[in-house]
Amino acid sequence: MLLDLIVGARPNFMKIAPIIREIEKRRASGGTISYRLVHTGQHYDRNMSGSFFDDLGIPEPHVNLNAGSGTQAEQTAGIMLGYEKVLAEKKSDLCIVVGDVTSTMACAIVAKKMLVPVAHIEGGIRSGDMTMPEEINRIVTDSITDYFFTTSETANENLRKAGVPENRIFFVGNTMIDTLLASRPRFRKPVIWDDLQLTEKKYVVLTLHRPNNVDDPANLKHQLDEIIKGASGMPVVFPVHPRTRKVMQGIDLADGSVLRMADPMGYLEFNYLVEKALVVITDSGGITEETTVMSVPCMTLRNSTERPETVTMGTNELLGTNPDAIAPAMQTLLSGQWKKGNIPPLWDGHTAERIIEIISNLKL
Ligand code: UD1
Repeated sequence: MLLDLIVGARPNFMKIAPIIREIEKRRASGGTISYRLVHTGQHYDRNMSGSFFDDLGIPEPHVNLNAGSGTQAEQTAGIMLGYEKVLAEKKSDLCIVVGDVTSTMACAIVAKKMLVPVAHIEGGIRSGDMTMPEEINRIVTDSITDYFFTTSETANENLRKAGVPENRIFFVGNTMIDTLLASRPRFRKPVIWDDLQLTEKKYVVLTLHRPNNVDDPANLKHQLDEIIKGASGMPVVFPVHPRTRKVMQGIDLADGSVLRMADPMGYLEFNYLVEKALVVITDSGGITEETTVMSVPCMTLRNSTERPETVTMGTNELLGTNPDAIAPAMQTLLSGQWKKGNIPPLWDGHTAERIIEIISNLKL
């Protein structure tokens, strides 16, 4: 059985790594599943892509589509043209896509049209916010997915409501958490730790990259000013996404002295910082899952989340996109009132094993 494994953007790499490891493990003891790793090239900088391959032990991709930057339509079109050629040359038995990025949707469409069944890891999650490109990617991908591997009961329920038959939904847990738990002993102190003389639980980690939050310079400035104010003098470590970096250049902060900007970090360094942070302020989805598992308080600067269990069970709170909510939330945290949280069911480090076992029994 030949599986295509699709990766394209940063959050995909940690979701696919444990799948590859599990396939390799089975092959070493005579298993017959093989795979073709397809990198769409949506993310291409070393610090957005290459370093993750090294840190997570992902092999060189068999195919690189080199899609690169562009508008959503340009990226989607480039990835589709490239993947169509790959499948025209040799079809796989199953196309596995992960997450919700442009590459996920683009490859799912191509595979399905070329009669290759599609499996979606992290299927079924929904934010309900159609202004996010990821929400459109999720809905389009799930509308043509054959096999859904889900991270939560909420995702299962979303799929049932959309009419997906029960025998196509597999509640398996979270492969991103497989990677987190497997990598935790190898987390690596980033160089800036000593440069900035950071102390455990005495600094804030910040990430921002959603178009809603960062594309308008005035809004980004307002958010950053409030975060700096809320941090009450603690350093705010800010690994800056390339999209955000472009906007930052034109911004003059009221008091930028505690804001410590850095390039995007490697996986092991970033999670070292998160594990020891007092709080993470973010607009990412995946980071809210990682903070939940590591019991680190998390404030999400969005109005909705496709991962509600990080709020109902975990350490995450949605602050919305109004920057005025940041200071009061920081006060709650600093007065020791933040919730402790629990780890959602099946986020146990064994999800990839369950997925590959299920796939090995599919009649493809
Ligand atoms: C994408 C995903 C988002 C994910 C995020 C993580 C979609 C719709 N969005 O958003 O879900 O959370 O990745 O990073 O797929 N760029 C570089 N170097 C790179 C990659 C991108 O400079 O290696 C630049 C691009 O030129 C572009 C900007 O960063 O200007 C945005 O990249 P893009 O892949 O379009 O979307 P992200 O905002 O990264």
